[in-house]
Amino acid sequence: MPQQFGVIGYPVRHSMSPQMFEAAFFEYNIDAEYRKYEVAPDDLKEFMAEMKSGADALRGLSVTIPHKMEIAKYLDTVDKHAKAIGAVNTVFNKGGKLKGYNTDWLGAKKALEDVTELEGRDVVVLGAGGAAAAIVYACTQSGARVTILNRSVAKAQRLAEQFSCNAGPLDDLFSIRADILVHTTSIGMHPHEHESLVDPDYFKRGMVVFDIVYNPFETKLVREAKRAECRIVPGYKMLLYQGEAQFEIWFNKKPRIEAMEKALLDNLNDR
Ligand code: ATR
Repeated sequence: MPQQFGVIGYPVRHSMSPQMFEAAFFEYNIDAEYRKYEVAPDDLKEFMAEMKSGADALRGLSVTIPHKMEIAKYLDTVDKHAKAIGAVNTVFNKGGKLKGYNTDWLGAKKALEDVTELEGRDVVVLGAGGAAAAIVYACTQSGARVTILNRSVAKAQRLAEQFSCNAGPLDDLFSIRADILVHTTSIGMHPHEHESLVDPDYFKRGMVVFDIVYNPFETKLVREAKRAECRIVPGYKMLLYQGEAQFEIWFNKKPRIEAMEKALLDNLNDR
């Protein structure tokens, strides 16, 4: 029986992880399958008990909304990064012991580092949800100074306390200088594709701009940042690099990511 892998979420039908991992399995001739597991919150406990029993040969999971926090309850160990972020996005079943990791922060770090250094840079993160937590962790770990701005200020403040950085409302943006601007909310994503949280006058030539929304491939925010000659970090790169790190956890080797990247880009172009 092929080894089983998959992404667990609710809903999960839009996930592009299957195409990305199937491309990697094919390239390395790995006898494995990667599926979508749509599991409602009430069914998570039972699903994880089955994974632990080994009956379904499920070796690894990518974890997405809404399970990233809850799933830790059902794991034997959680690595220190996932603990610090407060979210697990990867599970590995090692002979019945379930171990949790977070690779979102690694994905964000690598995507940003393709374009810029982080140490000593001023970073503004828009949004204070789960994705923002992983990105703030990546930036503070790398020695950047971070300010979190969010519609709900209390949520930004909580995250800022967790990572010893600054917080404020979205309206503060114009009074804060940024070398790097990261957008983590759903604004810009369908059905908000004609919206952006950033006034185009804020963009300065050379500013690094990272919108983690990758569907549509180029958001309004990114188009306006490009017009101002900002340096763009493509949003899909976080997904690609967090997947690369998941592959490494499951197979104990770094994949060549070209095939994974092509699968993602083909899929995004089809949408
Ligand atoms: P994720 O895990 O993908 O980051 P999340 O935890 O639901 O998702 O976080 C969503 C983020 O988008 C939050 O920062 C949210 O702001 P609030 O904390 O104020 O809810 C932000 N967000 C969602 N819709 C928004 C909107 N219309 N305007 C501004 N921010 C929005």
